[in-house]
Amino acid sequence: MTHEHSEFYGNDSKAAPAFATAVLAGLSKQQKTLPCEFFYDARGSELFEAITALPEYYPTRTETAILTQYAPEIAAGTPPGAILVEFGSGSSVKTEILLRALKGLSAYVPVDVSSSALALARDRLIRHFPDLRVHGVEGDFRAGLTLPVELSGKPRLGFFPGSTIGNFTPIKAARLLQVFARNLGHGARLIIGVDLLKDEGRLVSAYDDAAGVTAAFNLNLLERANRELGADFDIAGFGHKAIFNRSLGRIEMHLVSRTRQSVTVLGRSFAFGPGETIHTENSHKYTVAGFYNLTRGAGWIPTRVWTDADDLFSVHELVLKA
Ligand code: SAH
Ligand code: AVI
Repeated sequence: MTHEHSEFYGNDSKAAPAFATAVLAGLSKQQKTLPCEFFYDARGSELFEAITALPEYYPTRTETAILTQYAPEIAAGTPPGAILVEFGSGSSVKTEILLRALKGLSAYVPVDVSSSALALARDRLIRHFPDLRVHGVEGDFRAGLTLPVELSGKPRLGFFPGSTIGNFTPIKAARLLQVFARNLGHGARLIIGVDLLKDEGRLVSAYDDAAGVTAAFNLNLLERANRELGADFDIAGFGHKAIFNRSLGRIEMHLVSRTRQSVTVLGRSFAFGPGETIHTENSHKYTVAGFYNLTRGAGWIPTRVWTDADDLFSVHELVLKA
């Protein structure tokens, strides 16, 4: 049994310089922004897990059902000794479906910016899969991936569930797929979850639930700035808004200033007018054909796609030429 405990070294303070730079830059723009990868400190990762169980948030349960139904097909053809590399692994709950179907893996490599999510996932996976080598990588999946020498030559199967690809604009999503291509190598396969375009009402309620969990997830960005950067955001002075931007095919989340106010972050003051927003997240939705075009432009060949009966969500298999 091999486990890589030593690789889970991070804590939230490790991200602090990057977070500080992003907050100062984002609040200086005309349309204020805060990048969505900073949602996932320990509290944010916990709130995201609560979102996945909400009745309005259909993506997680739908993708889970697709993976469960088609796991044997998805796993078929994976060479023995392959490693499974998951980008933005979070809780690694869906991964367990694949891990049960994949035989003879050399290792599972979860990559995530959230040290708390990685640590929790590792503890559970070690119990559920005592013979599996788990090599966690805390870091940005947009960067290169360096693996220990004994894993470096193995065939790689990539996994990018949750429609996290939707959090990137199509141009950045194509660039990300090119990074994954470099990190996975010739002949690799990528299994990727992609949320589908659907009626606006269903989309908006998935991002503005009745219990207010998504609002808390969004507002946690400001709480994180208060905790980690000593900012003085008045949390009650901001509200949560989710809108469907039809021309760009995406849900946008914003934080809306309720009043005229000013906020100090690291000695700099930022003014907000009433109704002014901080744009915090995009969640792009695709048609199957639209996603094929994106993948082909990034050098991947879409080979198979699995969807649910209501066409809410899609799981794609992409391959790289050997
Ligand atoms: N794959 C899981 C979690 C999705 S939530 C699922 O399908 O349910 C998105 C995850 O991606 C979070 O755990 C977050 O910490 C991680 N993440 C977001 N941006 C990232 C980045 N740039 N690099 C690495 N991880 C990132
Ligand atoms: C991780 N990501 C794909 C989620 C999404 O649906 O865009 C994050 C999220 N934001 C609000 N709810 C969930």
